[in-house]
Amino acid sequence: MRTIAILNLKGGVGKTLTAATMARCLTDDHHKHVLLIDDDPQGNLSDCFGVTDRSNSTWELLTGGGDYWPDFVTDLSPLLSIIPADMSLAYADIRREVVDLRAIDDLRQTLDEDEAYDFCIIDLPPSLGLATQAALFAADEVIIPIRLDTFSTSGMAQLAWQVNEMRKLNPRIRVAGILGTQFLGTDEEKDIHRWLHINAGMPVFRQTIRMSKPVLGSVNRHVSLLAHSPRCGAAIDYRRFVKEYLRGVKKRG
Ligand SMILES: Nc1ncnc2c1ncn2[C@@H]1O[C@H](COP(=O)(O)OP(=O)(O)OP(=O)(O)O)[C@@H](O)[C@H]1O
Ligand SMILES: [Mg+2]
Repeated sequence: MRTIAILNLKGGVGKTLTAATMARCLTDDHHKHVLLIDDDPQGNLSDCFGVTDRSNSTWELLTGGGDYWPDFVTDLSPLLSIIPADMSLAYADIRREVVDLRAIDDLRQTLDEDEAYDFCIIDLPPSLGLATQAALFAADEVIIPIRLDTFSTSGMAQLAWQVNEMRKLNPRIRVAGILGTQFLGTDEEKDIHRWLHINAGMPVFRQTIRMSKPVLGSVNRHVSLLAHSPRCGAAIDYRRFVKEYLRGVKKRG
C-alpha cells in the first residue's frame, strides 16, 4: 500500500478536492482499492462523500479508541472507504496527552499486512498540529497542491520550509510532486509553472487542474466530480494527473 498525504499549510488550495477526486480516479479508472483518511477537523473530505455517521472517526483512531481497523472504516463503494473526521479532531492540539502520534502509522502497517488497500490518501488540514504530524509519520509521499495565480517568491520559501519540517518528522517521505490547481490559464500562471519546473528543487506535475464551475455543485451535492461533470476541465485534468502520478509510481518503484 502506498500512503499519500496531501499537504499545504496554505488554506483553500484544493487539498480536499485533490484527495477526493484522486481517490475516485484511482477506483473508477484504474480499479485500485483506496482508503481515504480525513485528517482535518473541518471534515470537508467527509462532507464531499456525504458521510453522516462520524462516531468512529480519525479522532478515535488517534486516541486508541479501537483495535480492529474495519471498525473505523466506512465503505463508500466496493473499492473506496473512508475514515471520517469531525470537529472532535480539533482536540488533538488541546488534549495532546491522549494522542498517539504513531496511530496512523500502526494502522498503515496493519493494512499493509492485510493487503487491504492499494492506496491510502490522507487529507491534511492547513496546520502542522498533531493530526498532521501523525499522518506525516505514516506517509510514504506527499502531493502539494498550490494555486499558481497567487504563488510568489515567498510562496516558494513557505513550501521549502514545509518540506523541511516534514522531513524532520519523517526523513523517508518523498515529494511525489507539486500540483498546480485552480488554474485559470493566464500567461503569468504558465510562467510560474515553468519557473517551478526549473527552480523548485522538487518534482512538479506537468498536468495542472483547471478552475471549473461544476466543482461547487459536485461538492454541495456530495457527488463525485467524475460522475457529476465528467467533461468539465477539472475532471479531465484530474484524470490526466492521476495517470501522470501512476507513471511516476511505476518509475520510482
Ligand atoms: N479546480 C477547481 N475548480 C473550482 N473550484 C475549486 C477547484 N479546486 C478547489 N475548488 C474550490 O475551492 C475551495 C477550496 O478547495 P479545497 O477545500 O479543496 O481546498 P483545501 O486546500 O482543502 O482547503 P483547506 O485548507 O481549508 O482544507 C472549495 O470551495 C473547492 O470546491
Ligand atoms: Mg481541505
